[in-house]
Amino acid sequence: MSGNLLEINDLHVNAGDKEILKGLNLSIPFNEIHAIMGPNGSGKSVLSNVLSGNEDYKVTSGQIIFKNKNITELKPNEISNLGLFMAFQYPLEIPGVTIMNFLKTIHEANRRANGLEVLGPSDFLKYVREKAEILGINDEVLKRQLNVGFSGGEKKRNETLQLLVLDPVLTILDETDSGLDVDALDIVSDGIVGMKNEENSFLVITHYKKLLDKLSPSKVHILVDGRIVESGGPDLADKIENKGFESFN
Ligand SMILES: Nc1ncnc2c1ncn2[C@@H]1O[C@H](COP(=O)(O)OP(=O)(O)OP(=O)(O)O)[C@@H](O)[C@H]1O
Ligand SMILES: [Mg+2]
Repeated sequence: MSGNLLEINDLHVNAGDKEILKGLNLSIPFNEIHAIMGPNGSGKSVLSNVLSGNEDYKVTSGQIIFKNKNITELKPNEISNLGLFMAFQYPLEIPGVTIMNFLKTIHEANRRANGLEVLGPSDFLKYVREKAEILGINDEVLKRQLNVGFSGGEKKRNETLQLLVLDPVLTILDETDSGLDVDALDIVSDGIVGMKNEENSFLVITHYKKLLDKLSPSKVHILVDGRIVESGGPDLADKIENKGFESFN
C-alpha cells in the first residue's frame, strides 16, 4: 500500500458539455488534514461531488485512487462503503426519518458492507449517545426528523454527529464552517482533530482562515479554474486572506 490514502491523477470532469475540472492532481497521505481554498465557481464542490460518486458529473479522463483502489467508476454507496464520507455544502432534509433512525441505517449498512457485526439496539443507542454528548446534542434532538426545520448551524452539528458515528477513512467537508457560530466552529474542529489518527484523513473545503487556524492543516491547496495551482503550508491561507486569489491566476 502506498503512503497515500487518496490520489487524484490528472482529473478532467464535465458538467454537461462544460469542462469544470481541467487536469486536477492531489495526493492526501494518511493521518493528515488537507484544505482546499479557491474562488467561487472554481470547482471545489464539483470535486467533492465527483469524489463521492455523484453521477451528474462525467469524468472524461484521469483517475481517483482511494485506498489503492481505482474508484473513478464506482457508485456512491460503493464509495461510501469503502469509508469515504462527504459532508455537503447544503445538507439534505429527510422528512419522516428521525436522526436516530438515519444514523442506525447508515451505520448498519456500512458495517454489513464491511463484514462487521451490526450493533444491537441498546448498544447502538449507547454508542450514539456517547458521540452526541461530545457535540452537546440531546435525546430530544435525536428524535427529530433529519434536518427538518433545523438552523444552518444545527444541520452542521448534526452532520458532525454522522461523522463521529460513521468514523470514516476519508472525510470531505465542503464549507462546513459557513454559518457556524464560534461555539459550533469549536465543536466541529475539536471533533475533527479528536478523530484524526493513523488510519484516516480529512479534506476541508473552506473560504475562511478561522477554521484552518483551529485545524492546522498539513497542506493548503489553491484551486483555481479546475486545477490545483499551488500547494503549501497553512501560511498560504494568510496569503489569500491578505491578497485574495488574484496572484494565483
Ligand atoms: N450540474 C451542473 N451543471 C452545470 N454546471 C455546473 C453543474 N454543477 C456545477 N456547475 C458549474 O461548475 C462550476 C464550479 O462549481 P462549484 O460548485 O464546484 O464551485 P465552488 O468552487 O464550489 O464554488 P463556491 O465557492 O461558490 O462553493 C460553476 O461554474 C458551476 O456553475
Ligand atoms: Mg462550493
